[in-house]
Amino acid sequence: MKSATLALVAAAVVLSAGCSHPQRSRDLANPAVSATTMAQQVCSNCHGMTGSSVSPNFPNLAGQQEAYFVAQLEGFRSHRRSDPAGFEYMWGLSRSLTDDQIKGLATYYANQAPEAQPIEGDRGRFEAGKAIFSGGVADKGVPACKTCHGAEGKGDATFPRLAGQHADYVMKQLLVFQRTDERPEGGVMKSVAHELTAQDIRNVAAYLQALPRL
Ligand code: HEC
Ligand code: HEC
Repeated sequence: MKSATLALVAAAVVLSAGCSHPQRSRDLANPAVSATTMAQQVCSNCHGMTGSSVSPNFPNLAGQQEAYFVAQLEGFRSHRRSDPAGFEYMWGLSRSLTDDQIKGLATYYANQAPEAQPIEGDRGRFEAGKAIFSGGVADKGVPACKTCHGAEGKGDATFPRLAGQHADYVMKQLLVFQRTDERPEGGVMKSVAHELTAQDIRNVAAYLQALPRL
């Protein structure tokens, strides 16, 4: 690395040590800031230092599939993914990220070990959720989630990891797919989610949050 670049990175690290917004946005617009620095000093404010967030408002990113992750950040950056929380939080944050930074961020999070999430719900709920995940809802034509998201819910390439995701976030996204066109690659999930009832959504989301602990 050239010393001028090093100096820029060092300056960015010093600047972002504080918490005020102008300092953060300066970081975000600086292509010289490494993905790891950005993840630990900017993204961590909401998504947690290693991609496991405390608040269910912020999706867990630890262990997320790289191809899926890149597609989502590109979707926010181009404003194609426009669900309300994405628009509110992620449009501004992704605006100045370079393709290299996005790739680096995807690799950073894919390599973090997901933290186990709290188990919330009773046995009946988990069994109903597991039945949907593993077998779908046959009489309504809902396919098994595991056929695309993997037997353990870890995802694959553009199929996202769902295991250990916050139930609140999963429920919110299932409603986005079911009711809107706010996610550009949501076509498949729109037909999957179409016939799910509110109860089905609660059950499968509780099961997914608890994976792999069930
Ligand atoms: C101020 C809080 C905040 C910060 C900081 C933040 N995010 Fe987010 N992020 C969110 C919220 C809220 C969502 C959920 C958006 C939705 O529901 O569409 C989200 C969603 C995402 C998603 C989509 C996850 C999925 O499963 O589809 C990715 C990827 C992501 N953020 C990456 C990042 C990266 C990388 C950074 C740092 C450059 C970052 N975020 C910084 C709040 C934040
Ligand atoms: C035919 C393949 C397929 C099946 C079956 C499927 N999914 Fe998906 N799912 C996808 C794809 C592809 C995406 C990514 C969509 C995007 O990029 O916006 C996705 C995204 C999701 C997301 C958003 C994750 C995030 O981090 O934002 C949730 C939640 C989800 N699926 C839940 C389910 C559930 C629950 C089932 C079973 C009822 C299911 N999926 C069945 C293909 C599938």
